[in-house]
Parts: sequence; structure tokens; C-alpha cells
Amino acid sequence: MIEEKTQPETTGSPGDYQPVLIPHPGRGTPVLLEEYRAEGGYRGWEKALREMSPDEVVEEVKAAGLRGRGGAGFPCGAKWGFVPKVPGPKYLACNADESEPGTFKDREIMEVEPHMLVEGVAIASYAIGAGDAFIYIRGEYVTAADRLDAAIAEAERAGLLGSDILGTGVDVRIRVFRGAGAYICGEETALLESLEGRRPMPRSRPPFPAVEGLYRRPTVVNNVETLSNVPHILKNGQAWYQTIGVPPKNTGPKIFCLSGRVNRPGNYELPLGAVTFRELIEEYGGGVPDGRQIKGVLPAGASAPILTADKLDTKLDYDSVQAAGSMLGSASLIVLDETVCIVRAAARMAEFFRHESCGKCTPCREGTAWLHQILVRLEAGRGSEADLDLLMSLSGEISGKVLCALGDFATSPVTATIRQFREDYLEHFKLGRCPYDSWTA
Ligand SMILES: Cc1cc2nc3c(=O)[nH]c(=O)nc-3n(C[C@H](O)[C@H](O)[C@H](O)COP(=O)(O)O)c2cc1C
Ligand code: SF4
Repeated sequence: MIEEKTQPETTGSPGDYQPVLIPHPGRGTPVLLEEYRAEGGYRGWEKALREMSPDEVVEEVKAAGLRGRGGAGFPCGAKWGFVPKVPGPKYLACNADESEPGTFKDREIMEVEPHMLVEGVAIASYAIGAGDAFIYIRGEYVTAADRLDAAIAEAERAGLLGSDILGTGVDVRIRVFRGAGAYICGEETALLESLEGRRPMPRSRPPFPAVEGLYRRPTVVNNVETLSNVPHILKNGQAWYQTIGVPPKNTGPKIFCLSGRVNRPGNYELPLGAVTFRELIEEYGGGVPDGRQIKGVLPAGASAPILTADKLDTKLDYDSVQAAGSMLGSASLIVLDETVCIVRAAARMAEFFRHESCGKCTPCREGTAWLHQILVRLEAGRGSEADLDLLMSLSGEISGKVLCALGDFATSPVTATIRQFREDYLEHFKLGRCPYDSWTA
């Protein structure tokens, strides 16, 4: 018999914070239905079904202040509220593509807490009036997909999913859709194209998916971590949720994926804004190997501008990181130490975006290839200051002139490193080679 846990007590301070999204660190096996329910699971779903109208669920999530954890930090409840109240099918698509370099938080949720996500998907579907929901998962996440399939089957057998759920007349079906592994599939409209069986090329907007999404029907696309917050909001209430983090705009728990030059890389769940970059790296990540100095931190994988070491005392929440000149994004922090060649790092990120560009827009398709090609040359020491001007102007021809944010993301490693590490570039030109011995092709 498993003992039921009481409602978690949380505070904004990290010391006594008890994780709710990944409460079983280091566990290799999934939490099955019996254990999940014993820990209070599916209470939020039951409460929504029995005590709340769909609109009340939307209002509760709005009041909690939950912002999307997929990257943009868009308010979740507001997005749900955009879904028009029209007859006919509506859909929920859970974005489990998780392809941003350095991001591995959704994987842990899905592999260990599959029922938490299933419950979140069910509640969100009810809130927006969707009878069918899809979890779009990257093909490489085989274990996570298998565990989600098993969790859905378990929930169906228990009458928590399917038709006439718990005798309330509500129907919600959830299916797991395995993608083929491309970064662009995480872009919400490319994801919908892929779900429909086409090449994952982003659509132009408007119309936005909430109005015209999957099969041209109203569709909400939400990230795995976003939806995994929802059961906790419903079960414990929005007032409880607001005690975590920094209200009103940075509430709730956040999983920080820490990697790069740190002693203890991994996922760390903390309230938004509770710690700084430095505290996360030092106290949770065990600092940098061999006591080396930090040169910079990428706060959101390859997609957001790098921050220099003088920004390490910035709090880890959406608004603070933005004020420091970057974006929290999916909060996948990659630490670069003093032995890292920044030009090499920029070239490597440019290579990634070149490879992942879907090719639909000319500035992105051609521009990402040129950015990469030029950076490889500069890294080898064959360049001059004029090349930096060329890279800045080329970036200006891509950013804001393309269909989706991948094009903008592709320019940020280039422009941010030129602005903040210009000396590193100049050193390459002066020496006619890379000054960093650690460089490997
Ligand atoms: C190139 C690109 C890749 C993206 N990859 C992901 C991803 O892997 N997972 C994700 O949740 N959002 C990703 N996004 C953001 C989604 O388009 C979308 O904003 C998000 O799924 C919305 O969920 P949220 O509101 O819950 O954050 C990506 C965006 C772009 C432009
Ligand atoms: S910006 Fe790049 S990835 Fe996005 S639609 Fe255009 S070509 Fe494709």
C-alpha cells in the first residue's frame, strides 16, 4: 500500500523547495498509475471534470500566470482563451519535439512522470473543447513514447480517458505521434504540417493555430513542461501556484537544463527567479571543472544570445534574462568556460541552423549556409574586420525577413558573439589561426 502524500509546501526560496514536476530525481522507471494516484495524481482532472466548467479551467490557469515553457513564454491561459467557441472539432497538440541543443527536461518528465503529462493534456483538452489530443514526440525518444503509450492505456482502462470519462459525458482521446527527428518539427505550424502527413515546413501566420491549426481547425499547441504544470494548478489552486516564483509574471516551477562545462550537468527544478545563473552553476551544477573561469552562458541552447560572465548574477526568470539582453527560452543553459573558442562555438551553432533550416524561405536557406561558411573560415584565422561587418549585414538580411523564428535564432549566435567577443575574432585574424589549443574539428 502506497502512502498518500499531502499537498506540497512550496516557497520562493530554493533551499526548502520541493520539486513537483520531477519529484523523483535519479529514478529510472516510470511512475505508474497506482503510485501517481496515491501521490495525488488525476485529482486536478477529476476536479476539472466534476466541479469546473471549461471556462473556469481557462480562468484558473490564466490567474495562475503560467507562461509557456516551450520557449516564447507566452501566457498559457490567454492562448487557450483565443480558441473560438465554434461548433466542430478542435485539437490539442502537445509539443514533445524537444530538439533545442542542451534541452532535455521534457524527456525526464515523459520518461518518469508520463501520467503527469497525460493528465495535463486531458485538462487542457477539456478547457479548450478538444476531443482529440496528440503528443508529437521526436522519434529518438523511443522510451518516452513507449511509456506515454503505456500510461495512456492505463488511464483509459481506469476510465480516466476515452469516452464518457468518469460518467461525465466528456470524451478525450490522446494519441502519441512519433516524428522523424528534425528541429523544425518543434516549430508549432511545422509540427501541425507533420501531424497532417506533410513535410514539416512552417505556415505563414495569421491565421494562428488557435483559430486555424490542425486540419484547419482551432488547435492549441503547448509544450510538455507547460502542460505538466496544469494538474498542479488545478489540484492546488492558482493561489498556491502564485506562491512559487515571482508573481505576477514569473510564477511557477521551472526545470533548468544545465550542461556544458559544469561538474554536475542535469535537470534542476526550482521556482522561477529563485536563483541566479551563478547560483545554479555553482550550488547545483557543482561549478566549472578545474575551477576554470566562466566565459559565457547560453541561456536557451543555440537560440538565444550568449550572456557574458558579468551577467551571471541575473535571476533566472523570463523578465530578468530579457533585461540582461537575452531570453530564458526553454531554459537550457550551456556553460562555456575560458578554454572555449567562441568563434568555433558560433561556427558550430551556425552549422546546426544551416542543417536544420527547412529551406522554405530564401534568406534562411541561403543565409544560414553563408553564415556557417564564413564562420568556418574566420575560425581558421582567415579573415578581417570587414568579415564581421559582412556577417552583421547578412544577419540583418535574415532576421525578421523569414516565416519562422528559426531564421532569427540562426543569427543570434553570430551577432551576439561579434558584439560581445569581438576581441576573440580579432585574435584569430592577428594570429592567422585559432588561438585555442582545445579546438578540434
Ligand atoms: C525552430 C523552432 C523549434 C522549436 N522547437 C520547440 C520544441 O522542441 N518544443 C517546444 O515546446 N517548442 C518549440 N518551439 C516553440 C513552438 O513553436 C511553440 O511556441 C511552443 O510549442 C508553444 O508551447 P508553449 O506555449 O507551451 O511554450 C520551437 C520554435 C521554433 C521556431
Ligand atoms: S525561417 Fe528557415 S526554417 Fe523557418 S520557414 Fe523559413 S526557411 Fe524554414
